[in-house]
Amino acid sequence: MGPCTPLLILFLLSWSGPLQGQQHHLVEYMERRLAALESSDDQWHCSQRTQAGGQEVGERLAQCQDQSSRHAAELRDFKNKMLPLLEVAEKEREALRTEADTISGRVDRLEREVDYLETQNPALPCVEVEEKVSGGPGTKGKGRRNEKYDMVTDCGYTISQVRSMKILKRFGGPAGLWTKDPMGPTEKIYVLDGTQNDTAFVFPRLRDFTLAMAARKASRVRVPFPWVGTGQLVYGGFLYYARRPPGGPGGGSELENTLQLIKFHLANRTVVDSSVFPAEGLIPPYGLTADTYIDLAADEEGLWAVYATREDDRHLCLAKLDPQTLDTEQQWDTPCPRENAEAAFVICGTLYVVYNTRPASRARIQCSFDASGTLTPEKAALPYFPRRYGAHASLRYNPRERQLYAWDDGYQIVYKLDMRKKEEEV
Ligand SMILES: *[C@@H]1O[C@H](CO)[C@@H](O)[C@H](O)[C@H]1NC(C)=O
Ligand SMILES: *[C@@H]1O[C@H](CO)[C@@H](O)[C@H](O)[C@H]1NC(C)=O
Repeated sequence: MGPCTPLLILFLLSWSGPLQGQQHHLVEYMERRLAALESSDDQWHCSQRTQAGGQEVGERLAQCQDQSSRHAAELRDFKNKMLPLLEVAEKEREALRTEADTISGRVDRLEREVDYLETQNPALPCVEVEEKVSGGPGTKGKGRRNEKYDMVTDCGYTISQVRSMKILKRFGGPAGLWTKDPMGPTEKIYVLDGTQNDTAFVFPRLRDFTLAMAARKASRVRVPFPWVGTGQLVYGGFLYYARRPPGGPGGGSELENTLQLIKFHLANRTVVDSSVFPAEGLIPPYGLTADTYIDLAADEEGLWAVYATREDDRHLCLAKLDPQTLDTEQQWDTPCPRENAEAAFVICGTLYVVYNTRPASRARIQCSFDASGTLTPEKAALPYFPRRYGAHASLRYNPRERQLYAWDDGYQIVYKLDMRKKEEEV
């Protein structure tokens, strides 16, 4: 989009209004003329019939017939001239409507470009909150279901609002994922573009990612099996991701509709572990994000997975995973609907589900589920995300920075979050 575009849009906007108005007046004016003509024609007939008498009748009748046939001819003529005009007007109106749609699309686009440009200052003032991050190997019973979760850290906060939005970059396609390793200490930025690919970009630090032609400076890490969806996670130097196991689906094997979790060591570039996710009949958890079957999340407590199964195809499930072994430690059926969900993340053991519409409008957290049972639904804030935007293909929470890395229709955005204690009154 060139620098003249705003001017062009203003020009078109200022024109399309009055022009449409004028056209409307013209049509109304023509219709009035037509109506007047028709009614005067009728009156003529009428007055002739009642007035007539005596010898003059014949003559006047002839005159009348003459006049009225002349009027009829004129009317036909006028109508014939008007029809193509009206057709043209209708076509122009249609064209203007299409133009207006295009313009509003372009204004949207422009708004994003401006937002993006506005945020193009190099320093990202992050508040680095030093938080002890621990997600040690689970000692709890495997696969426990719907039992209260015992926190392993003392973190006890919840979101109060989305404080700010910063658009950092426009990179890649509509769906993807970008993140730092929440376990640190690396400042590396990992970018996984697309819902089915095997090559991740790695940038030494955020600044390198925001530069123009950033991809040239990125190193690439290729994983042995392509990932599926946008549910991958970088955590503690590993890339965790889901792949379709060999043989399924459609292979008729018992692995049909299951996914294999892969744990890939990013520095050594080796698969160190894998496991079949123990949920049958997996379906995409988010109604608006169809390619993702398992969404992995990291918080202060460790590693989580959001998924859904055919067993209850209307709500989301949450699982706590052991990052060492990929074992499922606990599972919960949440009250959060799948319908219109687009993404989710976990903070201090609480799942936050973000909802949107199709076509996308303003995203909002509309459901939360605290596995530890501390945050009751009534006390949970349901914040909106700033402005009207596109669809979030992924949201990755970073506990150290208390911010979200979002992939929004090809834009990479950082949302800073305001927190409060879970127990506080709203
Ligand atoms: C992966 O993404 C790159 C662009 O980022 C693209 O060129 C490549 O074809 C993709 N590979 C697959 C297997 O889709
Ligand atoms: C990475 O490679 C080094 C050297 O080969 C090895 O000592 C280390 O255990 C590997 N780490 C992982 C997680 O595989």
